[in-house]
Amino acid sequence: MKIYVTRKIPEPGLKLLRKEFEIEVNPENRALSKQEIINWLCEKDGLLCLLTDTIDKDVIYSEPKLKMIASYAVGYDNIDIQAATKRGIPVSNTPGVLTDTTAEMAWALLFSVARRIVEGDAFARADKFKGWDPMLMHGQDVLNKTLGIIGAGRIGTSFALKSKGFNMKVLYVDDRVNETLEHELKAKKVDIPEILKSSDFISLHVPLNKETHHLISEKELKMMKKTAILINTSRGPVVDEQALVKALKKRWIFGAGLDVYEYEPNISKELMKLDNVVLQPHSASATVETRTKMAIIAAENMIAGLTGEIPPNCVNKEVFQKKSIR
Ligand code: GLV
Ligand code: GLV
Repeated sequence: MKIYVTRKIPEPGLKLLRKEFEIEVNPENRALSKQEIINWLCEKDGLLCLLTDTIDKDVIYSEPKLKMIASYAVGYDNIDIQAATKRGIPVSNTPGVLTDTTAEMAWALLFSVARRIVEGDAFARADKFKGWDPMLMHGQDVLNKTLGIIGAGRIGTSFALKSKGFNMKVLYVDDRVNETLEHELKAKKVDIPEILKSSDFISLHVPLNKETHHLISEKELKMMKKTAILINTSRGPVVDEQALVKALKKRWIFGAGLDVYEYEPNISKELMKLDNVVLQPHSASATVETRTKMAIIAAENMIAGLTGEIPPNCVNKEVFQKKSIR
């Protein structure tokens, strides 16, 4: 069987795939267009794709042989899952292995913004440091503050648990009660208005879908404390980026730490000019350990899916129910 891999991923994953299949990897270090993916997918049985690939109906229906889609990411808002399910194609993601790594990045961003690390670094490098200054670069303490988690799934939970050393009050928004957070942190489940009004730091950990698109817009930013910090390591369109630019410029909030952007790979030019935002290039899961594990998991799912097993991280298990009914 033949697999197409839309971009080079860590070797241990490719090695696993090579043992079982004939594989073709995009030789260029860039994301492919939808049409390019369709072209390369010709005669392939499996597709290993990335979150930057648009895997819509056109792609899913383009190759009759296609039997498995393994994504090298936890979020799968870029894939038309319904279309894949309709065609009987299992889709897998890479949850679990990147949970703590992503939560660590959210904390790195929180500290960077609260303690103005990036600004301070630029200041020091520009040779502007003229000695200890009682009024220089005042930030925000993290200890004893109120932490707001929007989306208390795997990553949101891990992020919240890491607050233990900072004696924080934890609030969260989720459809379900999170027993772990309530038990371990005495966290309180609240609604969106309350979390916005009461939190010192808000971190977003929801998947992107119709309900979460522009979850944070002008109205929400205006409800936050003037000293608040917003962290987004989920998906860019969860935040209305223009509204955020306005809020940061007008100092409605203290600052923001972003790993994701509404129009990736583009970042609003205005954001780049602001000193109260820290910007990362969608790299929350980018550690040697985690990216290697993601490659192995994506490969293992591909192998399972193409050898008639249920992929361990299948996101559309209905595919198998439908098959067994037939
Ligand atoms: C990263 O954003 C992922 O979804 O894995
Ligand atoms: C700071 O360096 C202090 O000694 O207060």
